[in-house]
Amino acid sequence: MTTEDIRGTDVSLMRPQVSAEAEHYADTYTTPPSAAVAALLEETQRVTPHPIMAGGIKEARLLQGLMRLMNARSVLEVGTFTGATALAIAEALPDGGRVTTIEMDDSVASVAKRHFDASEHGNKIELLLGDAREILRTLDGPFDLIFIDALKQQYIEYYDVLIPKLSERGVIAADNVIWFGLPWNPEATDPETEGVRAFVEHVRSDPRTRQVVLTVGDGLMLIWPNGTGSA
Ligand SMILES: C[S@@+](CC[C@H](N)C(=O)[O-])C[C@H]1O[C@@H](n2cnc3c(N)ncnc32)[C@H](O)[C@@H]1O
Repeated sequence: MTTEDIRGTDVSLMRPQVSAEAEHYADTYTTPPSAAVAALLEETQRVTPHPIMAGGIKEARLLQGLMRLMNARSVLEVGTFTGATALAIAEALPDGGRVTTIEMDDSVASVAKRHFDASEHGNKIELLLGDAREILRTLDGPFDLIFIDALKQQYIEYYDVLIPKLSERGVIAADNVIWFGLPWNPEATDPETEGVRAFVEHVRSDPRTRQVVLTVGDGLMLIWPNGTGSA
């Protein structure tokens, strides 16, 4: 982690919420990334100023497990960065499956695109360049899995547009809801922390859905429609 701010968030206030020993243990007993995802992560470390933004392997493996349970064929990711999670998702999709991923920063998207093109699973990935707030309105769905991992102060906007585009058995996974412990730190008042606070409250008060917050990685909130089979 750098000592400078990440998009206005004071990193000196950020704290890992799981002990280093527990993270190491969980990493040890989680299937490592494929060679293609490992190469992508290695380049991300070398060429990007904030490689910490790349999705962790435990979250990627968790998403793959969920996809298997639900026979996911159609996945949407908001926030590609250099493409680690999109590539891991594509690797878990059956032939004919599709992951659509959206990124507004050309410099990181070009790294992602190069790795997608080099992968045998790249033909399952559609990379859309631009502002997700505009692009999401143009997508039809339905999506079996939606991974929200872009600007925290925009999460509510993504969520409200995407809830109707979730398939009947679909799940939304919203990343970084633990946000290094900042949501419950009164000293943290930056826009992204405020965005996380507002988002989790918004979901909690939404009668359309059920949800759980997992402490894996930087916190993953799984959200699903409150319909038949939901208690
Ligand atoms: C945390 S990173 C995504 C990490 C990626 N999902 C992974 O697992 O490797 C967030 C990304 O969202 C992008 N982003 C932020 N706001 C966006 C928006 N409104 N539209 C599209 N991309 C956005 C940023 O440029 C950044 O690359």
